[in-house]
Amino acid sequence: MTGRPEAHLRAADERAKRGPARPKRGQGQWALGYYEPLNLAEQTKRDDDGLNVRERIEKIYSVQGFRSIPPPDLRSRFRWWGLYTQRKQGTPAGITATAEPEELEDEFFMLRIRIAGGLLTSEQLRAIAWVSERFGRDVADVTDRQNVQLHWIRIEDVPRIFEEIERVGLTTCEACGDTPRNMLGCPLAGIDRDELFDATPTLELTHKRFVGDPAFSNLPRKYKTSIAGCAQQCAQHEINDVSFVGARGPDGLPGFDLWVGGGLGPNPHFAKRLGAFVTPEQVPDVWAAVTGTFRDFGYRRSRNRARLKFLVADWGAEKFRDVMQEKYLGFVLPDGEPPPAATAGQRDHIGVFEQKDGRVYVGFAPKAGRIYGHQLRAVAGLAERFGSGHIRTTTQQKMVIVDVAPERVEELVSALDDEDLRVRPSAFRRGTMACTGIEFCKLALSETKMRAQWLYQELEERLPDFDEEIRINVNGCPNSCARFQVADIGLMGAIMPRSNLTKSDGFLVHLGGHLGEGHAFGRKARGVRVYGEDLADYVEALVRRYRLRRNGHKTFSEFVNSLSDQELADFAAPPRR
Ligand code: HEM
Ligand code: SF4
Repeated sequence: MTGRPEAHLRAADERAKRGPARPKRGQGQWALGYYEPLNLAEQTKRDDDGLNVRERIEKIYSVQGFRSIPPPDLRSRFRWWGLYTQRKQGTPAGITATAEPEELEDEFFMLRIRIAGGLLTSEQLRAIAWVSERFGRDVADVTDRQNVQLHWIRIEDVPRIFEEIERVGLTTCEACGDTPRNMLGCPLAGIDRDELFDATPTLELTHKRFVGDPAFSNLPRKYKTSIAGCAQQCAQHEINDVSFVGARGPDGLPGFDLWVGGGLGPNPHFAKRLGAFVTPEQVPDVWAAVTGTFRDFGYRRSRNRARLKFLVADWGAEKFRDVMQEKYLGFVLPDGEPPPAATAGQRDHIGVFEQKDGRVYVGFAPKAGRIYGHQLRAVAGLAERFGSGHIRTTTQQKMVIVDVAPERVEELVSALDDEDLRVRPSAFRRGTMACTGIEFCKLALSETKMRAQWLYQELEERLPDFDEEIRINVNGCPNSCARFQVADIGLMGAIMPRSNLTKSDGFLVHLGGHLGEGHAFGRKARGVRVYGEDLADYVEALVRRYRLRRNGHKTFSEFVNSLSDQELADFAAPPRR
C-alpha cells in the first residue's frame, strides 16, 4: 500500500483542480484545453504564424528562388499572403488523388488579390492589370468571392507585385489560408435604388481592423464573411461563415441580422440565423466575438470538420449565440426580425440598370470568370471615360462599371463588346460559372474554365432563343469552389471509367439548387455521370425537357423541386444516343 493511496489522492486533487474530466479523444478545441496540434496543418501554424512568411518571401525566397522554399512555407504559410502553387501543366486528372505534392506542383504560383466588397477604383484595376500583363502571362480570373486571381507568378517577382498592389491600397494578406478571407459585399452598395442602406463603411472598417490581425490569423480553417445592406442579398449570407444581412432594427433603424455557419465544400450547410440584431457600429466587435468563438471552439483535429459550420450544426443557434455573447462579446444583443427574403434568383447585376441618383450601372460578363490583363486595363479606362472611375466585382464572376450617364450607355456597351465583354450576353454565358479546374488547380479532377466556355457557346448555337435565367456551375471536384450545390445545373468533376478500361474526366450532376427564398441544395441526379465531351448534349437535353414539361413553373429550380424522385430520375437521365 505504500505510496499508492497518496498518488491516487494527488491525481484526484489534480483532476478536481482541472475541472470535469475531458473527453478522451478531444476535437482539438483550444477552449477545452486541447492545444496540442493534432495534424500537420495545425503543427505548421503552431510552429510559426503564416503572416510571418512575408518577410522570408521578401528577404530570402525571392532572392534565392523557388528551390529555397521549405515545404511548410511553400505548401501552407504562403497562403496567408494569397500564394498557392499552381498545377504543373499537363498533369492528368488521374493522378490528382495519388501523386506526391512535388509531382503536381509547378514552380509558378496563383496569386489571389482580395477586393473587399468587390469595390475597385480604376487605379486599382490598372495595377492588377499591370501585374497580370507583366508577371502573369496576361491571365486573370474574376472569382465568385469578388477577388481577382492571377496565375503564372514567379517567386522572384512577388516583392515587386506586393509593392504595386499595396501602393494602390489593395492586399493579398489572408486571401487564402486558415484566415478571414475576403469580405463579401453588395457590388451595388451605395448606388442601388432598393438597398436598405450602404454597408460599405461597416465592411471597410471590419476589413481594416481585422485583416492581418494576429489574433485571428490562426483559425481552425478558412473563414468567410459577408456584410451587405442590399435588398436582394447578393452577398450570399446563406453560405458564408459569418454574415451581416441588412435589416431594420426594433426601432426601425438600419442594422444587420446575424447569421453563422454556412459553407459549401463536399459537406454543405446553410447558415443559421442567430435571431440577433446588430447595429452598424457593433459589427466589428460582433465579428470579433463570432470569430473568437470559432478560433477557440472550432474542431482542429480533422481538417474535414474544422469549418465553423460543423460547430454550429452541433451546438445549434441558441447555444452558439449564448457562448459568443457571454464569453466574447460581453453583452447581450437584442433580438431582431428576419429581413424579407430576396426574390431574385440570379443576382448577377448583368445589364443596364438605373441607380438611385439617376445615373446607370452597366454589368458585363467575362468568360466564365476568365478575363485578361489587357481587358482589365481597358475596363479601367472605360470606367474613367464613361463613369466615375469605379468598378465592382460580383459574386457571380462578373463585373460592373458604375455611375454612367444614361445617354452614353450604348457607346459604353459597344466599347465593352469590342473587348469581348458582354453587357447583353446569352442566357448561357450569363449563367455559367466555372472554378479554376485542372488548368491550374492541384485538386482538380476535370477541366472547367475552357469547358464552360465551350459549353455556353454550344448552347448558344443549339438553343438560340432561350432567354431565361439559368445557372450552370462547372466545378472540377467536390470542393465546390464554383458552388455546384446552389446552381440550377450543378456539375461536379469526377474521374470516370470508360468502356476501353481507360479513365477520363467527367461530371456528376446536381439539379435545382438555389439561394434566396426557400434556398435549397441541388438534388442529386442519381447514377448520372456525364463525360466532359458529352456535356453540351446533356445540358441541351435538360433545357429542352424543362421547356416541354415545365407546366407553368417560373424557373428551372422551381420546376426541378416540384418533381417526385421518379420524375427527377426521368428528367435527369442522359439522352439516348
Ligand atoms: C479543400 C479544398 C477546398 C475547398 C473545400 C474549397 C471550397 C471552396 C468554396 C466552398 C468556395 C466558395 C464559393 C462561394 O462561397 O462563393 C471556394 C472558392 C474558391 N476556391 Fe476553393 N476550395 C478548396 C481548394 C481550392 C483550391 C486548391 C483552389 C485552387 C485553384 C481553389 C480555388 C478557389 C477560388 C479561385 C475560389 C473563389 C473564391 C475566392 O476568391 O476566394 N480552391 N472554394
Ligand atoms: S472545385 Fe476543386 S477543382 Fe475547382 S478550384 Fe476548387 S478545388 Fe480546384
